[in-house]
Amino acid sequence: MTTRLLTNIGELLTNDPALGDESPVGRLTCAAVIVDDERVLWVGPAATAPDADERHDARGAAVVPGFVDSHTHLIFAGERSDEFEARMAGERYDGAGITRTVEATRAASDEQLREESSARLAALRAGGVTTVEVKSGYALDVQGEARLVDLAAELTEDVTFLGAHAVPKEFARDRARYVELVAGEMMSRCARAKWTDVFCDEGAFDVDEARVVLEAGRRAGHQLRLHANQIVDIGGVTLAVEMQCASVDHCTFVSDQDVERLAASSTVATLLPGAEFSTRSPYSSGRRLLDAGVSVALATDCNPGTSYVTSMSFVVALAVREMGLSVDEALWSATRGGALALRRGDVGHLSVGARSDLVILDAPRAAHLAYRPGAQLVREVWRSATE
Ligand code: NIG
Ligand code: FE
Repeated sequence: MTTRLLTNIGELLTNDPALGDESPVGRLTCAAVIVDDERVLWVGPAATAPDADERHDARGAAVVPGFVDSHTHLIFAGERSDEFEARMAGERYDGAGITRTVEATRAASDEQLREESSARLAALRAGGVTTVEVKSGYALDVQGEARLVDLAAELTEDVTFLGAHAVPKEFARDRARYVELVAGEMMSRCARAKWTDVFCDEGAFDVDEARVVLEAGRRAGHQLRLHANQIVDIGGVTLAVEMQCASVDHCTFVSDQDVERLAASSTVATLLPGAEFSTRSPYSSGRRLLDAGVSVALATDCNPGTSYVTSMSFVVALAVREMGLSVDEALWSATRGGALALRRGDVGHLSVGARSDLVILDAPRAAHLAYRPGAQLVREVWRSATE
């Protein structure tokens, strides 16, 4: 395997406190990294870097770990910009539009879904995302959800089964039977997914229904995550902690008690500021969660209804401007936080042995990602060949 030395790095964020200035982002200046096709082999001051097969000069640029986008709905057909416009004019998001995307997705061919989701993934990657989670959830029937799980598996190892995203029209009068279907036959057909997720909120699934699906997911060998507290607090965060979910996502409306529960748990709060932007909702207070000791991740939530966002830099900028995170906290949450939300130790940091996933910026400091929103600051993305 070829080894590559990346040297003359102006600012390197490793997310390994032992490597850098002892801050959580493990900052090193005048640094160098050596990688091979799969792993990080060496990290330290440029002046003491050993030799490698190839040498790349970062010319003083900042380098950060590849972004870990731990929450996306990349596979769908159609778009809902009319709903976005209506919300900007004052309408409230209630999840009802999911069924429009379900109709379009059911009607789309494998080839169309493959092409469109690959294009979205390419946009994420161009913006520095090196690890991505992808959910099903826009078919809501057995065959269709299995198809989306299979298509997602072509994109990533972190595939999430989200059959409990909404109750499809054909079950509107018998939601109990739909929950049974999701927890039974649909779950077995989607067993190859790694994760089970449920949209637990007003207008979607209540806590008891969500618990049934999560328990079935666990029996199928899945790990668990949950969409909760996006529209109102119906007890989703409490359920996520009770079920030891790896992550509870959205957390727009969270009680003090739930903040305490999260802080005492291993459940990560994944914040999705793109969704709050696109639904004109109040931003979740990331500051309050961090101050209480909660682990926070940031993700795009890329989907056609609430967050047609494929830029992690935009997410970082929103988290800094609107959620009270410092730039370092936002960058950590978009990398190591996302990795924690996916329970992965191999990504989200640049310690020796981690995957060789890194982003070379067109800027001398990583802070430019929030400081210059909208600018394309990703010069190069290096991604491990392992995945
Ligand atoms: O994360 N809230 C549930 N699921 C998506 C939106 C789905 C849609 O409206 O299409 C979300 O916001
Ligand atoms: Fe989502």
